[in-house]
Amino acid sequence: MKWKQQIYEMKAYQPGKPMEEVKKEFGLEEVVKLASNENPYGFSPKVKAFLVNDHSNHAIYPDGYAQELRTAVANHLNVKETQLIFGNGSDDLIAIITRALLYPGVNTVMATPSFSQYRHNAEIEGAEIREVPTKDGKHDLVSMLEAIDGQTSVVWVCNPNNPTGTIVSEEELQSFLKEVPSDVLVVLDEAYIEYMDLSQSKDTLDYVNEYPNLIILRTFSKAYGLASFRVGYGIAQEDVIAKLDPVRGPFNNTILSQKVAIIALEDQAFIEDCKERNACGKEQYIKFCEERGLNYYPSETNFILFEVKADSDVVFKEMMKRGFIIRSGNALGIPEYIRVTIGTEEQNNKFLTLLEEVLTEQGVFA
Ligand SMILES: Cc1ncc(COP(=O)(O)O)c(C=O)c1O
Repeated sequence: MKWKQQIYEMKAYQPGKPMEEVKKEFGLEEVVKLASNENPYGFSPKVKAFLVNDHSNHAIYPDGYAQELRTAVANHLNVKETQLIFGNGSDDLIAIITRALLYPGVNTVMATPSFSQYRHNAEIEGAEIREVPTKDGKHDLVSMLEAIDGQTSVVWVCNPNNPTGTIVSEEELQSFLKEVPSDVLVVLDEAYIEYMDLSQSKDTLDYVNEYPNLIILRTFSKAYGLASFRVGYGIAQEDVIAKLDPVRGPFNNTILSQKVAIIALEDQAFIEDCKERNACGKEQYIKFCEERGLNYYPSETNFILFEVKADSDVVFKEMMKRGFIIRSGNALGIPEYIRVTIGTEEQNNKFLTLLEEVLTEQGVFA
């Protein structure tokens, strides 16, 4: 068959072992997944209450335009409904953007390490990939700007960045946006924005009005705790949305996912509560690292990337045997580091006690 040449070299996304499999393999009663930055507190109790009594008719197709969800998100963000596009998770939007703008002969600029799906989708489309190393885990926007040329079509800025959790400063972002040529789409992926301290910063939605070549991506998968429902959205000027919309699948959010996203959005008290708890949980990890002389990246998210001074694959395996699934830095291109989703206080305490045990076994601590 006439497969695209690049498909031969590609592997499917490795999602990590399912919890049930880990339980069986290591004879564990309980397994905690701290690998994919989901919300350890689940989702709003209002969503729970709704799901118990919902009798939607799933025999019919959902509203492909997600009208009610669109109205809710537009009101919440104070943007026009026509400035929004919904995806089956923001993964879907990354694929839509890539499909619309990347092809052999053009290039795309991104940071490394950063979220893997930018690269993965660009590879499928056969575009040239220009990866610019992060500096102290942060996007080096000056070098990214230098990497842009007449053939560049899309630039990805993951802010906060996954897997480092770091953010670029407002000034850096502003001067970057000013300099990017107007025929290059800037994708500002804000999957973790709900965890950021935004009290001092400019609302990035203002940039959407200023820059016709900007799209912001957000998701209900992280702080809203709805990862399984697969709802992400993009915010841009109407022209950008109108170009991307024909590339979108016709019914890419289910009836149920649209309904729960609306309810989740209404419960901002839940988001605030999770954000506060996450900040406390993050402190548990920072204290652990500081007391033991382990480097860590300052995180503005619900995960933290830190040094273990040992083979991260071994640490990953040993923690899995003890009932915790995390991400090995090796898999992310950062050896001797691990990325851990911040869990509940109890999960974090247990995790850190077991990590101490593992790192002592590995000879990291005397
Ligand atoms: C930076 C970033 N963007 C996008 C996504 C995709 O999220 P979803 O497709 O669940 O909305 C993730 C998920 O881990 C992420 O970390």
